[in-house]
Amino acid sequence: MRKLAAGNWKMNGTAAALAEIAALNARYDSAPVDILICPPATLLSRASDTAGPAIATGGQDCHAAHSGAHTGDIAPDMLKDAGASYVILGHSERRTDHGETDATVRVKTVSALNTGLTPVVCVGETEAERDAGQTLDVIRSQLAGSLPDGLDGAQIVVAYEPVWAIGTGRVPTHDQIEEVHNLMRAELVARFGDSAAETRLLYGGSVKPGNAAEIFALSNVDGALVGGASLKADDFAGIIDALAQA
Ligand code: PGA
Repeated sequence: MRKLAAGNWKMNGTAAALAEIAALNARYDSAPVDILICPPATLLSRASDTAGPAIATGGQDCHAAHSGAHTGDIAPDMLKDAGASYVILGHSERRTDHGETDATVRVKTVSALNTGLTPVVCVGETEAERDAGQTLDVIRSQLAGSLPDGLDGAQIVVAYEPVWAIGTGRVPTHDQIEEVHNLMRAELVARFGDSAAETRLLYGGSVKPGNAAEIFALSNVDGALVGGASLKADDFAGIIDALAQA
């Protein structure tokens, strides 16, 4: 399995930010890990044109329909047309800001797969859920609800992002990360069989160059979904290099 360093730029970046992708190109004309940048939709086409052969691009969300009367939304086909090969689905900011449910994420996942995009499906507990001892139940139920039946595990990426660790500088303990990642692998294998050994399981939430290596050493961590530290090529490269050495 090729490991994956994925950058989620969220609602950050105008044309000037393309220089960060150019800087990554200069560093990696080939890379021992997969590198993904998910810029805002307004930059996707230019980011795809800028990205060299070692860098893939993706969307941060898509609509479940392939076209139609959905003002302001973007179809997976449009992401693909703009050069994307991945799409992040069910990020906690989408779940919170836009009321996305597991069922919403599941239909988007089906649509993305039918379009030939690799979905990066996000799950993660809130701080209140962790404090209440519900973390594993939450992850189990988000996985069950957000993923469609009959998947080939190699077709999807799953990201564990504890909501309380996103953008806060707080990171779960190593035991907490491993507990969830081991559970996710077991749940996926139970549902999708041996192919789930090939599902890339990313950790996300305050990953930085300084903590990446220790996170990548944990079992069933196959990469990272990185927000803030993916905005600058130098920072993201520190994470990519740590993953390459893991
Ligand atoms: P962060 O965001 O790295 O800024 O914590 C991660 C994410 O939300 O994907």
